[in-house]
Amino acid sequence: MVIDQLLAEGIKSLENIEYTNPQLEVRLILSRLMGVDKSYLYAYGDKEVPEDLVNDFRDMILRRTQGYPLQYLLGTQEFMGMELEVSEGVLIPRGDTEILVQLLLDHIKESFGDDEFTLLDIGVGSGAISLAIGKFCPNAKVYGVDLYEKPLQLANRNKERLGLQNVEYYRGDLFSPFEGREWTGHFDIIVSNPPYIPELDRDGLQVEVGRYEPETALFAGEDGLDFYRRITAKARDYLRDRGLLAYEIGHDQGVYVADILRKEGFSDVKVTDDLENRNRVVTGRA
Ligand SMILES: C[S@@+](CC[C@H](N)C(=O)[O-])C[C@H]1O[C@@H](n2cnc3c(N)ncnc32)[C@H](O)[C@@H]1O
Repeated sequence: MVIDQLLAEGIKSLENIEYTNPQLEVRLILSRLMGVDKSYLYAYGDKEVPEDLVNDFRDMILRRTQGYPLQYLLGTQEFMGMELEVSEGVLIPRGDTEILVQLLLDHIKESFGDDEFTLLDIGVGSGAISLAIGKFCPNAKVYGVDLYEKPLQLANRNKERLGLQNVEYYRGDLFSPFEGREWTGHFDIIVSNPPYIPELDRDGLQVEVGRYEPETALFAGEDGLDFYRRITAKARDYLRDRGLLAYEIGHDQGVYVADILRKEGFSDVKVTDDLENRNRVVTGRA
């Protein structure tokens, strides 16, 4: 079977599946399998595809029709211009999270310039936030923590691939690896994109997310605010005076998370919206 025929077959299979982009996805999958650029597929549509790759392609398209995420099939996701490895058991980094990173980069530039600073990322997942800060800010000393083995292994692999020396990962529950007086008031910035989906929304999730992404990265109690409460209650112990706490939040959680920060004594509490005017980030100063 030649490239064009196989692509057409894949497009037909994905045509009526919600949340897919058939034209793009079949090309991404086949180019990855053949180890060629997408442009090769356009230029050489009449080239024969080896039998074993035809079978692999069909298997992957079948998985896609069942809602298996494209990024897990391809094994990578682009984030802030970095190609990150992603795999099952670890949240796929989202474009929404780039808003949080951009806000941090602006804050860092304004507050520290080229001076050294320390940042703690709670719940590192693939390493998206911590690695972006480590990469764009050579003056950063970045610490990251996750409770689970899979995200930590992946974040460490991504760190190695990017060749970053200024990022270190720890395993534990929120601040637990940082107990002891030497960590008191240690961080200039604490950032987290924690699990924030209310248990009550579990059944309404899109199949790609609900069936295939790890629930340990998604759910946060009945109202989705558990992690904001737990992290905020302790964050001031670990932040320097006037240090920044920054969260990614769900699109309707701004008021509630801002309230949690104020009650814990944070000042300059702000909710930042995304381009579609939905709440996306909350920040406050210790
Ligand atoms: C929503 S994901 C965010 C991943 C990554 N920061 C990103 O933005 O793509 C939340 C992460 O928090 C981690 N996590 C869940 N409970 C935790 C806990 N008690 N302590 C530390 N990390 C936790 C999960 O394993 C998951 O990797």
